[in-house]
Amino acid sequence: MKILVTGSNGQLGKELSLQLKEKNIDFVAYDVPELDITNKEKTEAIIQKENPTIILNCGAMTNVDGCETNRELAMAVNAQGPKNIAEIARDMDITLVQVSTDYVFDGDGIVEKGGKRPYIESDPVDPKTVYGESKSAGEKAVAEIAPKYFIIRTAWLYGDGNNFVKTMLDLAIKNPKITVVNDQIGSPTSTVDLAKAIINLMQTENYGIYHGTCQGQCSWYDFACEIFARSGINIPVEPVTSEQFVRPAPRPKFSVLENKGLADLGLDTFRDWQDALDEYLKKLNS
Ligand SMILES: NC(=O)c1ccc[n+]([C@@H]2O[C@H](COP(=O)([O-])OP(=O)(O)OC[C@H]3O[C@@H](n4cnc5c(N)ncnc54)[C@H](OP(=O)(O)O)[C@@H]3O)[C@@H](O)[C@H]2O)c1
Repeated sequence: MKILVTGSNGQLGKELSLQLKEKNIDFVAYDVPELDITNKEKTEAIIQKENPTIILNCGAMTNVDGCETNRELAMAVNAQGPKNIAEIARDMDITLVQVSTDYVFDGDGIVEKGGKRPYIESDPVDPKTVYGESKSAGEKAVAEIAPKYFIIRTAWLYGDGNNFVKTMLDLAIKNPKITVVNDQIGSPTSTVDLAKAIINLMQTENYGIYHGTCQGQCSWYDFACEIFARSGINIPVEPVTSEQFVRPAPRPKFSVLENKGLADLGLDTFRDWQDALDEYLKKLNS
């Protein structure tokens, strides 16, 4: 088994590289500019040179507002890129793992019996942003083209890179008080848990679409309060609505994903979001 990681300088790419190394799994890691997934010819040349058995595609344009204002680039990186890799994977008989997002759904949740339930893998996609649309098109291409594919949708991801946790800690240094939206619900997810699940799943032949997020749900406001409480930071946090905090791309109100597919396989190893956060904050502080 030999793994090729794309987008390896991103949050997930770094954690995957770390865990593959710890497990003594043979791997190579690439990112732009050396491996740009929008350039099929060069991507193919590198994949042919490395001849992996599995490709973990972590390359993506993840700036949701940036996607809204640069549709062309978003579609190139998040849709055409995975399509390129899927064609190469098909032609070379390589397993492809494509990482995707809660933004492929409409963000309203599935209303059932008067309440909302988390999205499961088979629920219909209906993206409301350019980012979601581009990632959904990437999913579709991978599923249609690559015979041996895994699509893993995650959400509210944090790890070694820019993310909500670091933004909050930074804001707390620079401001006397902080306002955070309280009407968007999701599941904060550590790259540690996601990388572990991907490494377990990629070694099976249970191809298909999966959800991979930490257990439990909260609002961004709850998430911020938990970050400060666990970091011993005493700062006033004011809850606000999405209408009071307008962004170029609309944010999903409810984007909780159920890890049904992984649970059915006995591979849902994700921790409660608070436990994973606690470990992350301890690592940051040390
Ligand atoms: N972050 C989240 O909250 C979140 C939530 C749900 C799903 N996801 C999905 O999870 C996956 C990993 O996310 P992440 O947080 O690790 O993202 P990230 O930190 O933004 O990493 C993405 C990496 O891909 C690279 N990249 C950009 N354009 C590329 C191209 N044309 N070819 C190859 N690589 C390219 C980026 O390089 P540059 O930095 O130089 O552009 C970066 O190193 C993505 O598929 C994302 O859509 C993320």
